[in-house]
Amino acid sequence: MGKITAAITGVQGYVPERVMTNKDLEKIIDTTDEWITTRTGIKERRILGDGKGTSDMGVEAVNKLLKKKNIDPSEIDLLICATVTPDYPFPATANVISDKAGIKNAWSFDINAACSGFIYALSTGAQFIETGKYKKVLIVGADKMSSIIDYEDRTTCVIFGDGSGAVLLEPNEEGLGVLDSVLKSDGEGRKHLIQPAGGSMNPPTHETVDKRMHYVYQEGKAVFKYAVTNMAEVSAEIMDRNNLESEDVDWLVPHQANLRIIDATASRMGLPDDKVMINIQKYGNTTAGTIPLCLWDWEKQLKKGDNLVLSAFGGGFTWGAIYLKWAYNS
Ligand code: UT7
Repeated sequence: MGKITAAITGVQGYVPERVMTNKDLEKIIDTTDEWITTRTGIKERRILGDGKGTSDMGVEAVNKLLKKKNIDPSEIDLLICATVTPDYPFPATANVISDKAGIKNAWSFDINAACSGFIYALSTGAQFIETGKYKKVLIVGADKMSSIIDYEDRTTCVIFGDGSGAVLLEPNEEGLGVLDSVLKSDGEGRKHLIQPAGGSMNPPTHETVDKRMHYVYQEGKAVFKYAVTNMAEVSAEIMDRNNLESEDVDWLVPHQANLRIIDATASRMGLPDDKVMINIQKYGNTTAGTIPLCLWDWEKQLKKGDNLVLSAFGGGFTWGAIYLKWAYNS
């Protein structure tokens, strides 16, 4: 028997129907479509709206994925949800998604690693497959960023949107799937990117609400500097570790925070534009949703054996890269 690796055998995304364009933002904050487009690459993003939570987007992706794969929910062993916008502080959004999807024979938990959440969760889930313990693991990346964004803070609100994606992991013995990962974190970064209130440090009070402390606080320029350096660095590191030259990489699947950060990463890896997945213009930064949403958008173009590098940087700080070989033709 060959070594067991964890292969992605299906992917599904979900974005809410409501579109918020740059022109819409021009009506509520002092900004322009031109500024947002040139500084970030974003033209529009999706908004979930009131009365629904992150689990509602997660379950949309999970239900469609199970249907597409013709898999009964009872076959799932484990569901991991990466999110920084859980439905509730507890229980875990993964528990809620499992309940809504009728997944009854699995255990489930959340991973909080902000924009790196999906790659943290993918790497974690892969290990349960590699040990031979589980046969079907779902990894969900979902965030309702609009629930923690201050639409009076023009430097931050323009980049975020809502969305989700899910992948199915199954064992593979042909050497396909997740082959390596480099994952990092540095909690000092919390001074530059944080949601200050709502947790045990600053539980909700009238004062925390009045001070708008339940919204994302981001020092954009500082985060940008760390993101540009570290996302490029870790992507180069995973190529080195796996003896990959630029021509060996078929696709870069970057976290979608800012087109300039993506371009810097691709350039460090020596990749031409046509090998880089970019959908930031239509969804903005959906935090844990960006990478599975890219895989979903590009699924039909991916071929069995393609070398993919997934790369992200985000709040925490957290960052990292995954090297995987795509396992199927659609
Ligand atoms: O995914 C999680 C990790 N997060 C990131 O990776 C985000 C990283 N940071 C960024 O992408 C960028 O820093 C932003 C897109 C958030 C901001 O872009 P920037 O080029 O760093 O702009 P800035 O904050 O340095 O602001 C430049 C100027 C300022 O005006 P002055 O002081 O030069 O007169 C801002 O007040 O642009 C102004 N500005 C805006 N103008 C129009 C800031 N936001 C806006 C806006 N519209 N929305």
